[in-house]
Amino acid sequence: MRLFQAWSKQKLQHKYAINAALLGDQTPLPWSNLGYWQTGQHDYRTACIALADHLAQVVGLNSEDKLLDLGCGQGASLLHWQQHYQVRYLAGLELQSHCVSHIQRNLPDLNAIYAASFLRLKDIQFSQKFDVVLCLDAAYHSPLDIFLAQMQSILNSNARIGFHHLMLSERWQTLNSFQKSKYGLLLKSADVNLKNLKTYSEFKTLLEHFEFKNIQIEDLSEHVLAGFSDYVIQHLNLKDRDQSVQAGAFDILKIQMTAKLCRKLYADGLIRYVQVTAQAKY
Ligand SMILES: C[S@@+](CC[C@H](N)C(=O)[O-])C[C@H]1O[C@@H](n2cnc3c(N)ncnc32)[C@H](O)[C@@H]1O
Repeated sequence: MRLFQAWSKQKLQHKYAINAALLGDQTPLPWSNLGYWQTGQHDYRTACIALADHLAQVVGLNSEDKLLDLGCGQGASLLHWQQHYQVRYLAGLELQSHCVSHIQRNLPDLNAIYAASFLRLKDIQFSQKFDVVLCLDAAYHSPLDIFLAQMQSILNSNARIGFHHLMLSERWQTLNSFQKSKYGLLLKSADVNLKNLKTYSEFKTLLEHFEFKNIQIEDLSEHVLAGFSDYVIQHLNLKDRDQSVQAGAFDILKIQMTAKLCRKLYADGLIRYVQVTAQAKY
């Protein structure tokens, strides 16, 4: 009966919902990314901020920029861009409407927030174009060509973009089709479609096709995949958690499964976690 109740509750949650408090962020606008982990660092918020700053620094985010944050989750990155980068104009976009309502209540100074999919940006009437578009730990559920195509109409000239994705490593080509389809099933459990993943050269070709220059693809697998899985498996005691944190059995299971998947991806080395940055040519 308990399991049935937990399952019913889970069905009501969005597939991308994550219990950030359980992961270690109990602030009103929590982070919910995989984090960028330094050796010996076991604080979830610090790791999430490091992932955001790493991306922001490569695109040179600054106070002159008009920024759009795609897949902004529960709003932590929006607050971070406001407080630490003082960007000129800040907009967020998120698929989960309850996150958007929460952000509207807690971040009234935001210039704009959209409850929408970043795969349908062309349906939105933005009041302006953007100098920087970032998508933190959210794009790998989506086909890259659609993601990039949607961005084109909203970028100012020479705009910079930055996002995280999963990339097929060189060793991937050595697998036979049975091994590849087994991997495909594993990724499907995390709502990642193997068909959307590309090799390094396919990534570059696609970005060039959409007229991007200064393309940089950085492998963050060790800091992100190994870092997150080590944190959850070795340092986060999900069973004896703080009593103030409300969590159901599925919240715990979801985090454990994500950590195990990250550990496997890192250990196998067939799929890498990458940070992609580029600049519009036009
Ligand atoms: C792992 S969370 C990261 C959230 C946030 N960027 C952060 O760093 O804390 C991924 C977020 O992307 C959102 N997302 C996934 N696909 C999306 C889409 N097609 N359009 C808009 N948001 C999307 C999810 O709802 C989720 O909130």
